[in-house]
Amino acid sequence: MDNIIKKYSNGEVTVVWQPSLCIHSRICFEKATGLPEVFNPKLKPWIDIYAADTDQIIAQVKKCPTEALTCFLNDLENSDDDTDESPDDQAAPETVVQVMKNGPLLVYGNITVKDSDGNEIQKKNVTSFCRCGISKTNPYCDGSHIGTNFKG
Ligand code: SF4
Ligand code: FES
Repeated sequence: MDNIIKKYSNGEVTVVWQPSLCIHSRICFEKATGLPEVFNPKLKPWIDIYAADTDQIIAQVKKCPTEALTCFLNDLENSDDDTDESPDDQAAPETVVQVMKNGPLLVYGNITVKDSDGNEIQKKNVTSFCRCGISKTNPYCDGSHIGTNFKG
């Protein structure tokens, strides 16, 4: 099991990257949904923490459908104006469902998932559901759709 954790800090915010949790949604680096000047998998290191301001980086990290990208403010004492250091602090105002091309179904918002045994699991911010049927963590996407012929 790959437990690599990397951190990137600009002095204000630290982005924490856990590659084993990435489901390759592409949200963070595609132009339409991402911040490609900061997140660019073609470069090494792939995160340029100085390429955007702290607010933009935090907003983008919150869009990651897993906890592959998380962040925290380095100096919480100086951040009481806009205390958005935790993605959990801000409840999504509404639930939005987004179909990712050839990928998962993203549900934005705080939701309850009930499994087939009736167990309830609380999910926050963004939850990524498998559409291709081959995820090993069904009903959630684990990135297995990458490299398959799944179209939809
Ligand atoms: S799962 Fe998160 S880190 Fe991985 S590509 Fe999607 S947004 Fe980026
Ligand atoms: S859609 Fe990602 S593993 Fe199925």
